[in-house]
Amino acid sequence: MENFVFHNPTRIIFGKGTEAEVGRETARYSRRVLLHYGGGSIRASGLYDRICRALKESGIDFVELGGVKPNPRLSLVREGIRLCREKRLDFILAVGGGSVIDSAKAIGIGTPADGDVWDFYLKTTKVTEMLPVGVVLTIPAAGSEASNGSVITNEDGWLKKDAGGECMRPRFAIMNPELTFTLPPYQTACGAADIMAHVMERYFTRVRDVDFTDRLCEATLRTIIENVPAALAEPQDYDARSQIMWASTIAHNDLLGTGRVGDWASHMIEHELSGIYDVAHGAGLAVTFPAWMKHVYKNDVERFARFAVAVWGVEPRFDWPERTALEGIGRTKNFFRGIGLPTSLPELGVTDDRFEEMASKATAAGPVGNFVKLGRDDVAAIYRLAR
Ligand code: NZQ
Ligand code: ZN
Repeated sequence: MENFVFHNPTRIIFGKGTEAEVGRETARYSRRVLLHYGGGSIRASGLYDRICRALKESGIDFVELGGVKPNPRLSLVREGIRLCREKRLDFILAVGGGSVIDSAKAIGIGTPADGDVWDFYLKTTKVTEMLPVGVVLTIPAAGSEASNGSVITNEDGWLKKDAGGECMRPRFAIMNPELTFTLPPYQTACGAADIMAHVMERYFTRVRDVDFTDRLCEATLRTIIENVPAALAEPQDYDARSQIMWASTIAHNDLLGTGRVGDWASHMIEHELSGIYDVAHGAGLAVTFPAWMKHVYKNDVERFARFAVAVWGVEPRFDWPERTALEGIGRTKNFFRGIGLPTSLPELGVTDDRFEEMASKATAAGPVGNFVKLGRDDVAAIYRLAR
């Protein structure tokens, strides 16, 4: 196991009716708040009214900025920074999913900065400060509610890039599984693929003797595999929704990666898809992850065979571990297909003509991945495998 520091200060407030606590939680930090949200979902569900009421009851003044799009855009981030500076707001409340939270984090690091916010995403400037951010989560998926990152799309060139820093973890995350009852099946499934990808990026490591976190990873994956079909069959199944929601945070709050070196190539390869083609991140991962697996599994057949047995219940073939490994990869793809996700690039509307360009962009800063370091040609080969 590698040395590590684990410090995740995000306060999790989990369960039925917890959004009623948003005023009290926010008031611990500020009474001048930017209320940030996405499209119509929080108004349609009535959550918007409940949040506004709770904030007012706690004596909090707030300015609203809605309209965050999935794959959140830099232009709205700039608008948020302008509002925070002009109105002297010093706290951002994100009500929504990964896109809203990431946009809130971007505003939070951009507002106190001297330079341009995009520099943090180009990694020419280090993140050292963020206005405090609080979250009311409405979709279990990205894990941004307790992660140290933010992913933003710059419309100028359709570049999707991430910024990170320990100060970027939200102060609190209110998580009521009931708020996820209204999720369309496709979004539930996209969330599942992202959660699983966050675990698998950490699971496929070359670090040895990480049995404890291997088992945590396997348990988290099995929880998603068992509960997502239940939530799709019965969207108001509180128990299934709550298992998924808590697993989504644990999948990406860094606990499962302690003492390990994660891979992250599939995420880098996917970001080109959601950046250029504006597809849902989880749907992109359902396509790129199995293709990545096929490309790299021969580098550690044993680990892929363990994955097949421990996660998918594949009967091990000790005389033929490669067969076991391939069965696990096949089951992963079939699961994604079974919950209604695309598993090939044409299903996402992605055609061959931009593979080389995407491979160059994905590897512009050098090879991606740690399980195996992948250069431009490998990444292009993975796009071809995903056809
Ligand atoms: O905009 P509204 O109307 O709210 O609709 C949203 C949106 O269309 C809808 N939705 C959310 N909650 C709902 C709901 N609809 C009905 N009922 C509800 N309760 O779902 C759609 C997708 O929302 P979005 O926030 O985009 O989803 P997600 O949480 O999957 O976030 C995706 C973004 O997170 C980034 C991705 O790249 C992508 O841009 N990621 C962020 C990470 C991080 N910061 O740590 C890590 C991840 O790997 C990921 O890259
Ligand atoms: Zn992800």
